Amino acid sequence: VSDHRQACLSRAWDEAADHYERYLVPRFAPWVADAVDALPAELPAGPVLVPCCGTFPELPVIAVRHPDREIVGMDLSSRMVEHARGRAAAYPHADAIRHDAGELTSRWPATAAAVVSVFGLQQLPDPVGAITNWVAALQPGGWLSVVYWPPVSERTGPFALLDAVLEQDLGAEPVPDWPGQLAGAARAVGARVVDDAEVSHPMSHPDAATFWSGMTEGGPLRSLVLARGEEFVDALRTRFLNRAPVGPWHHRPTARLVFAMRH
Ligand SMILES: C[S@@+](CC[C@H](N)C(=O)[O-])C[C@H]1O[C@@H](n2cnc3c(N)ncnc32)[C@H](O)[C@@H]1O
Repeated sequence: VSDHRQACLSRAWDEAADHYERYLVPRFAPWVADAVDALPAELPAGPVLVPCCGTFPELPVIAVRHPDREIVGMDLSSRMVEHARGRAAAYPHADAIRHDAGELTSRWPATAAAVVSVFGLQQLPDPVGAITNWVAALQPGGWLSVVYWPPVSERTGPFALLDAVLEQDLGAEPVPDWPGQLAGAARAVGARVVDDAEVSHPMSHPDAATFWSGMTEGGPLRSLVLARGEEFVDALRTRFLNRAPVGPWHHRPTARLVFAMRH
């Protein structure tokens, strides 16, 4: 089941990658900056690992601050890895590989300087297990900086309306309890949690229809299109647009940052 789920998810991101790079990457840039800015200027030895790198927007931001450091992005989607390699080509110390983000320690057992990940954790089947594994991949003195979407990122705005429309059709999902367990899981494997905080930034969309195609053609709803078909998603789209405001749409969603150091 979990292999099947991962295969479906990477196929969805293969299809979404080009549109994702154009539409969501520029809009997510402030959160990428948050994750990278949290790192200290001096890192211990070892590479900086970027699980769930997608098209690897973290790379230029990390490389400008840590120019001589090996930086390795990883993703399960082949098309995302192609984009990531394209970015990495301009950086002599960077590379991108196809690798499961949930499992870093077989390659990096307590050897990484930092693990930086943006908007991947909430996609993993076991986020708490992933955090545990990411801490174990760090050297003593290494840093973990993870930004993720919590189950609810705003009360009003396009993400909130999307959730409401999906809930109407698919039923309410049980509220997952993993976000509240991340800091404790990191501590349990020897990390000092420095920050476990909300990070909000403004985001804008030309209109509701453009937002919708960003999410379904170039974002996390691509997997719903593959699972349920175009017709089902078109019906959702109609209901979404009926309830959405006309014209440009501005909002301020809230993600979360977990920032920790391994003892
Ligand atoms: C929303 S994108 C974020 C990409 C990038 N970090 C950014 O900030 O733009 C999430 C990425 O996680 C990847 N992903 C999901 N599950 C994964 C897994 N188990 N291992 C590696 N990558 C995974 C997806 O393929 C997708 O590219």
